[in-house]
Amino acid sequence: MSLTVDLLDPTLYSEGNPHEIWRTMREAGPVHRQVAGTGSEHWAVVGHSVGKEVLHDWKVFTSTRGVLLRPDDNAAPYPGAGKMPVLTDPPRHTDLRRAVAQMFTPRAVEKLGALAREVAGSLLAGLRARGGGDFATDVAMRFPLAVQAQILGIPAEDVPLILDATRRSVDESEHGSFGHHDVMTYFLQALGTERGEAGQNLIDTLLAARAGGLSLSDEEIVLTCDNIVVAASQTVQHAVNGGLLALLDHPAAWQALREGRVGVGTAVDELLRWTAPATHVMRTAVRDTELAGTTIRAGEAVAVWISSANRDAAVFDRPEELVLDRSPNPHLSLGGGMHFCLGAALVRVLMRALLVELSTADTSLALASPPVWHSTWAVNGLRSLPVEVVPA
Ligand code: HEM
Repeated sequence: MSLTVDLLDPTLYSEGNPHEIWRTMREAGPVHRQVAGTGSEHWAVVGHSVGKEVLHDWKVFTSTRGVLLRPDDNAAPYPGAGKMPVLTDPPRHTDLRRAVAQMFTPRAVEKLGALAREVAGSLLAGLRARGGGDFATDVAMRFPLAVQAQILGIPAEDVPLILDATRRSVDESEHGSFGHHDVMTYFLQALGTERGEAGQNLIDTLLAARAGGLSLSDEEIVLTCDNIVVAASQTVQHAVNGGLLALLDHPAAWQALREGRVGVGTAVDELLRWTAPATHVMRTAVRDTELAGTTIRAGEAVAVWISSANRDAAVFDRPEELVLDRSPNPHLSLGGGMHFCLGAALVRVLMRALLVELSTADTSLALASPPVWHSTWAVNGLRSLPVEVVPA
């Protein structure tokens, strides 16, 4: 099935996600051929169950050819493939992930809850003291790394440098690879000075895994740090910005949250479903296969459009409505299968903390001027979210 829309046209995303287009596509079928104006081709999976199938079937759908669509050529080799968790298939993926998993268990990250509340509270207090400002740059961008810096092994004085490098690494207009290069150089230097005591921070944990018998090259360690640190600092902001915008657009839902009529935990997952910060993830078929009756050839790119899957009426009741107490909520915003987001528990700790701080204050926020979107198929995020302080 092929619809004429080009999902890689950035202007489609200039005012957020093109949900009307995805609904039309879902109604026509779960799998569509896409040929971008820029030349790259892929199979667009827009339905939830087929999306889940792709994410779980790593034997057929490899991650080693990249996990984000590229406008020119999805089949080109990918730097870092096979050496960092997100770009590696089992069995090596299992080793890389096991080396760091203990740092990100629900139990390990729950300890960051108090710090997350403190950082969120202080950033919001600054915004309120100024009568408002740009929530995206003043709060959402700074918040995640400020909370995670210590466990990632980044001293406070280096946080601005890493924040800038990770921001550049995901900004296509700024030649992302230079940002990645700076993050990796930073961790390569840190590698020379760390002691390798388990549980201290990211690089210590990786070195302890190596000391414990897991063969890990310096390159794998540095690339794994890059994978985790970029994800840790550059994704949560989109969920937080999109989450606040959703609450501003749905005052009754926000009021219910403020009054404790809906739980913060379910609200976080509904805001994740709603915003879907990772708009899609890509895989490449390693052999000919079939998806919902469509033949996929070896070497072809398949993208799971998470933002679309999250609104599939076959799975979600009232999918186009924000239902903060939705439960169960099997959204795909944090992926699925073996590459399921390593930071999932951390995301929930961070978002809960910010939501509580936003919802318990005796003042509230209102939009001061229209938000500005990133206008890309790669992430659903806001560049700017101007807000002003208003009575609660
Ligand atoms: C709201 C924020 C976040 C969203 C929406 C998000 C989304 C995702 C998604 C969709 C994947 C799957 C990628 C794939 O299947 O190819 C993923 C993987 C990953 N995420 Fe997150 N993520 C978030 C925050 C974080 C944080 C805070 C961390 C910090 C530890 C993190 C670390 C990772 C890593 C390392 C992977 C690769 C895991 C693997 O390949 O085994 N993410 N994330």
